[in-house]
Amino acid sequence: MVKSKDFFQVVEERRSMRAFAPTPVEAEKLKRILEVVNRAPSAGNLQGYEIFVVRKAEQKQALVKAAYDQQFIAEAPLVLIFCANPARSAVRYRERGENLYSVQDATIACTYAMLAATALGLSSVWVGAFDEQAVRRAADIPADLTPVAMLPVGYASELPPATPRRSLDEIVHER
Ligand SMILES: Cc1cc2nc3c(=O)[nH]c(=O)nc-3n(C[C@H](O)[C@H](O)[C@H](O)COP(=O)(O)O)c2cc1C
Repeated sequence: MVKSKDFFQVVEERRSMRAFAPTPVEAEKLKRILEVVNRAPSAGNLQGYEIFVVRKAEQKQALVKAAYDQQFIAEAPLVLIFCANPARSAVRYRERGENLYSVQDATIACTYAMLAATALGLSSVWVGAFDEQAVRRAADIPADLTPVAMLPVGYASELPPATPRRSLDEIVHER
């Protein structure tokens, strides 16, 4: 059983990582991350998303190009691509499922993966800036799926400082 960190420690320690060591991600750790993702909530429990695991150097280079030259994507030993599956959510929820729930499902799934990776001593970074069609081409993703987020995962090769946040007073509105 892989050891993991306490939830609040995970939240405190997580950073967007843009520098990865070449050390591979253990199969057991990837499995645990994906099992955590599979416990995420989803609209109507339909799980309106699909995940693609990319490891090949050539495909990662194509993802770098698709993401406007974000080179660190190719440094990570693996990249998870979270895609909305609009048709899956539309079966029960029509337009709302197609346009919103499937995207939310994929987003929550990626968030779970990000936190699970940190809990297991790995690092990651959410990549949202990319050309959808180029990502589909790079990872052979079917046209009916919408890439929502890419998550390069690996071992950190630097320790970035924590980033600032808005104050809760500014964000939270009592009514
Ligand atoms: C929807 C979304 C899209 C993002 N896209 C990118 C991206 O394309 N490239 C990148 O380097 N970071 C990206 N990030 C990471 C943010 O820049 C980062 O989370 C933010 O600056 C806070 O820093 P932290 O994650 O270290 O706390 C994205 C984050 C989110 C949630």
